[in-house]
Formats: sequence, structure tokens, C-alpha cells
Amino acid sequence: MKTNKKAPLIFIGFMGTGKTTLGEYIASNDGLNYIDLDEYIVSQEQRSIPEIFDKIGETGFRNLEFLYLQQCIEQYDVISTGGGIVEGPDAFNLLKSRHNVIWLDCDLNIVYERIKNDSNRPNANNKSFFELKSLYSSRVSRYNEIAFTKLNSNQPLRELYHIIQEMVLCE
Ligand code: S3P
Repeated sequence: MKTNKKAPLIFIGFMGTGKTTLGEYIASNDGLNYIDLDEYIVSQEQRSIPEIFDKIGETGFRNLEFLYLQQCIEQYDVISTGGGIVEGPDAFNLLKSRHNVIWLDCDLNIVYERIKNDSNRPNANNKSFFELKSLYSSRVSRYNEIAFTKLNSNQPLRELYHIIQEMVLCE
């Protein structure tokens, strides 16, 4: 798959929709540089995400997300972002201005089983299905506004890979 550092492939979407798994798959198949933005933040800050939320709050975390998103766009070919990246206006506007942003989405029941009570995800930990559904609903229009396409991630990685390969290669 041909991407370049000026237009990395960027995955957005709610927690637990498979952004990291697919990003890693594509990058390893094609020998591309891959980064998970959450992992990048943790390694730069030398603190876990729950620690960052505790220390500087969600607003502080969103500022870091924007700061490090800018760095990652300059350095990597494939980037998976955190599900809440659309919450920060700066990151939202930056992503909106980019090409090759793909929204991964899938059935919320599947997502809930994956992320419920995940202590490493402050916005999912101790949340009911309905609380998560409400968070998801509040973000949908923003994912939609940013992405050039939406893909259902509840299908084999190979299928997703081929769909993306055709879209990106045919540009
Ligand atoms: C968040 C999603 C997480 C992470 C942080 C906040 C959110 O990323 O950035 O816990 O608010 O949706 P994943 O989508 O990779 O779980």
C-alpha cells in the first residue's frame, strides 16, 4: 500500500473498534511506520493514561493528544488515534483538514464487551452500556465529519486491508 509521510493513513473511531489491530496489520503487511497515538503519549509522558487523566484531567489529556498528533503526522505512515480525539477542537480541526482519515465502526454491543471495566480506559471503566452508548452517540457526527469513509470493522482484517488498499491505491 502506498502512503506517504505527507498523508499518513489515520484511523479514528470509538474505543474498542479495532483501530490498533488494523493499523498494526496494515503497517506490518506493507512495511510501513506505525504508531498508536495513546502509546506515543504514554511513552512521551512516562505515565499511563489513567495517571494522566488523574493528574491533569481530560482537558489536559486532550491538549497532549493534539500536541503529539501533530508530531506523529510528521513521522509515521499509519496512525491509530484514541476514540476521544474528536473531543478536542484543535485535534478535530487538524484531522478534518487531513486526507486519508478512516472511521472504523462496529456494533456497540461488541465494543461494550471489549472495553467494559477496562481500568486502562478512564472513559469506559465503570460505565454502563447506556453511558457508553450516550458517549458514542455524542461523537458519531464528529467522526462522520472528519472521515472520508466509514468501514465496519467487524469483518476479517484481510478484507479490510483489501478495501483500504483499493481506496488508497486508486487515488
Ligand atoms: C479515550 C479512548 C482511548 C484513550 C483514552 C480516552 C476516549 O483510546 O485515548 O482512554 O475518550 O474514548 P482507545 O480508543 O484506543 O481506547
